[in-house]
Amino acid sequence: MNKTHTLSSDGAPRSDAPIDASDPLRFLTRLAGRGDVVPYDTAYGSVYLINRPELVRHVLQSDNYVRGSMMKMVLGEGLLASEGDYWRRQRQLMQPAFHAQRIAAMGTLMTQAAVETMAGWQKYAGSGRPIDIQTEMVHLTLKIIGKALFNIDFHDELDAVAEAVKTMVADLGRFAGTLFAKTYPVDAERNRRFDAALQTVDDLVHRVIDERRRNSETVGDLFSVLLSHRDKQSGKALNDRQVRDEVVTMLLAGHVTTANMLTWAWYLLSEHRAIEAELHRELSRALGGRLPAARDIPALPYTRMVLQETLRLYPPVWFMSRGAVADDEVGGYQIPANATIVISPYLVHRHPAYWTNPEQFNPERFAPEDMADRPSFAYLPFAAGHHVCIGNHLALLEGQLVLATIAQKYKLRLAPGAVVEPEPALTLRVRDRLPMILEDASRAGTAEGRTTTGPRSDHEEL
Ligand code: HEM
Repeated sequence: MNKTHTLSSDGAPRSDAPIDASDPLRFLTRLAGRGDVVPYDTAYGSVYLINRPELVRHVLQSDNYVRGSMMKMVLGEGLLASEGDYWRRQRQLMQPAFHAQRIAAMGTLMTQAAVETMAGWQKYAGSGRPIDIQTEMVHLTLKIIGKALFNIDFHDELDAVAEAVKTMVADLGRFAGTLFAKTYPVDAERNRRFDAALQTVDDLVHRVIDERRRNSETVGDLFSVLLSHRDKQSGKALNDRQVRDEVVTMLLAGHVTTANMLTWAWYLLSEHRAIEAELHRELSRALGGRLPAARDIPALPYTRMVLQETLRLYPPVWFMSRGAVADDEVGGYQIPANATIVISPYLVHRHPAYWTNPEQFNPERFAPEDMADRPSFAYLPFAAGHHVCIGNHLALLEGQLVLATIAQKYKLRLAPGAVVEPEPALTLRVRDRLPMILEDASRAGTAEGRTTTGPRSDHEEL
């Protein structure tokens, strides 16, 4: 048993590290330094942090561990929130929409959306005025997922929906923070804002469902799959609530995470100029200035490695929690029924037993020959086991195409004075904004970038 644990009144070993909800990354990092299974108490019960790949595998592959109900507040019985037979049936129903061929067909609209986003950047290019790349990536990925899965063209509503999602995700993040806190702060005003945000998203989704039900034409998107489905036994269709839950789930899960990935990638590239130069060499070789398409993906391995390494250092889903259904034993620890397990890709991806110089940004780690000896559960940005992300291939395709499209035109440079910090909310986003200046990509300059940043930007230019 790890000596750094103390015994609490129920006789189970506990971490004596003080809980610190204000800085969960630091708190979890300190816990991880104590062992690969570290129990600690919150006001809501016992939590076990699990940090060794084979133990993570055990939890994520076992039916004894289920997701909690927090996400149901927004997603209802959507795929990311449901469990058991209902989840299994819905996964089987939607899985074909994520097959490689279906995803590849979305390539053109992804590239096109990136081109449209850049059209809105023209007044900033060469002006030295920064633009908030985090917001830009959120809007771009929301547009892409709406169009790719549901044939939704966001026009005037884009800002309002993105803002509503931001409010909901921030509040879910506060709930999730109870895993690292002794209390949950009650805040009526925030609850009101949360309800209003949920209503904004629901209004849009119900309007689109109505339109699609009226216009019964089959477009071949995920909407068509959901609306045309009939249960084999009962012959029943999905009701509006069920369709709403899946649409909201895909819209949220399908853009917040992808936006985080791209935001961090731009930041890391701007700080590591040699890696950025290597990326540009690959893009010139493979594309020679033309727009990328899904068929170019095999010729863009370094672009993929940049994204994989970005997801290692800043995994958007930086923690996952599961509840134990029955008593179990994990890594020599007795896990009682109802205990909560926390698995943090952020920590596992920095585990010194599996990663050399874990803090260093080095896409070469994902060269095929280097990946061979690493246990598969040492890298889990998309989770693993039966709840493995259904959108993982879509996200990587989108990331490669967006990166390749934008990087061929612009080099994104961190605005002078900007400080970039991770904010471990529901997903691992950049705190506040990411102010960046657009430079013409054809201009030379391959010096290794800074790795530290100065004081926080006041963003007055944004
Ligand atoms: C970089 C982008 C993405 C990352 C890092 C990511 C990560 C994850 C992770 C870690 C999980 C497992 C969560 C858990 O079990 O607690 C998950 C599940 C899920 N993701 Fe993603 N995701 C990404 C993109 C997407 C996209 C593009 C979509 C949809 C188009 C999507 C839809 C989902 C859904 C529906 C689930 C639930 C799957 C299930 O339980 O069967 N994700 N994702």
